Amino acid sequence: MIRVENLHFAYNGREVIKGVDLTFGEEILALVGPNGSGKTTLAKHFNGLLKPTRGRILVDGMDTREHTIAELSRKVGYVFQNPEHMFFEETVFREVAFGPKNLGVSEKEIEERVRWSLKAVGLEGFEERTPYSLSGGEKQRLAIACVLAMKPKYLILDEPTTGLDLKAEKRVVEVIRSLRRKGHGVMLITHDMDLVLELAERVVLLSGGRKVFDGPVEEFFKLDLERYGLEMPELLLLAERLGAGFVRSFEELTGRVKP
Ligand SMILES: Nc1ncnc2c1ncn2[C@@H]1O[C@H](COP(=O)(O)OP(=O)(O)OP(=O)(O)O)[C@@H](O)[C@H]1O
Ligand SMILES: [Mg+2]
Repeated sequence: MIRVENLHFAYNGREVIKGVDLTFGEEILALVGPNGSGKTTLAKHFNGLLKPTRGRILVDGMDTREHTIAELSRKVGYVFQNPEHMFFEETVFREVAFGPKNLGVSEKEIEERVRWSLKAVGLEGFEERTPYSLSGGEKQRLAIACVLAMKPKYLILDEPTTGLDLKAEKRVVEVIRSLRRKGHGVMLITHDMDLVLELAERVVLLSGGRKVFDGPVEEFFKLDLERYGLEMPELLLLAERLGAGFVRSFEELTGRVKP
């Protein structure tokens, strides 16, 4: 369980997280909110990249102020919003192997983890390429693979599907579902409300550095989302027009509406 207790955070004296309380466990939690609401800043606290100005964060009981990023990274994997500049190895294989190698995993298992992680994001065959030669979407998937290979309990994905084509997006959705089935917690930061409807079990909405909603997906979509710069999914608008109530997929809608 990750517990955020009365978190405040300021960049150079300007407070951008203003007292957030939150728990996060084995679930798919969507963290949403307008640009600049503090999502990325909050996310960077979970593996200790940022330390609270006030309040604290406990990761399975470990206070992030008292542990190094390396220690926390065993528990929490964070995939950056723009991962372009985080690669430093010469090949894709070595890039993905870097994390597990540092954990002291055996050569054989490193090999297995790298193959499995690259396959999960659809990058098999890219092992000997240099990370810098990858396209934007491929780099994003590589960043996810790097975190998967560490097998952290919790994964924080900061806009993982932005800029991905449909096929790549579906693959990422499948990865998230399968992690969830295996007992991991996935926090998904996104502006894509269709994705929230499809995947999330719970939604947390940030606005101006404060948590303004925390609850089930169905309740979330009753909010006036435009106020927060978010868009209602077409599927829900259609369901409402047809008097079908709350649905989470096209199949569910067609199942309810008799011709
Ligand atoms: N390194 C930094 N130095 C100073 N201010 C920063 C820094 N990073 C972010 N901020 C500011 O903190 C606030 C929150 O930014 P953050 O990146 O957490 O928002 P976000 O919710 O992730 O937005 P987006 O949807 O655009 O990704 C913004 O006002 C931003 O300008
Ligand atoms: Mg962000």
